[in-house]
Amino acid sequence: MLCLVVAASAGSFHEAAWAGDAAAGRVKVRAACQTCHGEDGKASLPGAGNLSGQQKEYLIGQLRAFRSGSRRNEQMSIIAKPLTDAEIENVSEWYSSIQVTVEAPK
Ligand code: HEC
Repeated sequence: MLCLVVAASAGSFHEAAWAGDAAAGRVKVRAACQTCHGEDGKASLPGAGNLSGQQKEYLIGQLRAFRSGSRRNEQMSIIAKPLTDAEIENVSEWYSSIQVTVEAPK
């Protein structure tokens, strides 16, 4: 159970002491995902989708679907293909552990 949280809500990005899967996921994200999804999960590529605060189960499911070919996208299919189960779990742990706040329009 991960009890560390990153506050990314105000556009800032605070580091905490990281351990375990999320730390490994963050390293992978820096190497393979941040160009399009941002290290903090706020997408920099239009159409890539924000991943911060997303459900871990959803992230794992989509990455496995891209890897297996049941979900296809020109970029993600290539990126997901070589990912190991551990890498999928780690990056999903990282992105899902980023705390976001939402506010409905008034
Ligand atoms: C070159 C740009 C690029 C890189 C790098 C990239 N992605 Fe993506 N990603 C995309 C695009 C574009 C989509 C939208 C795919 C679609 O429309 O189906 C996407 C979709 C996703 C989705 C599905 C989001 C949803 O809401 O369903 C996940 C999860 C994801 N990416 C994770 C990752 C992870 C983890 C990495 C690093 C290992 C990564 N991506 C690297 C471009 C990228």
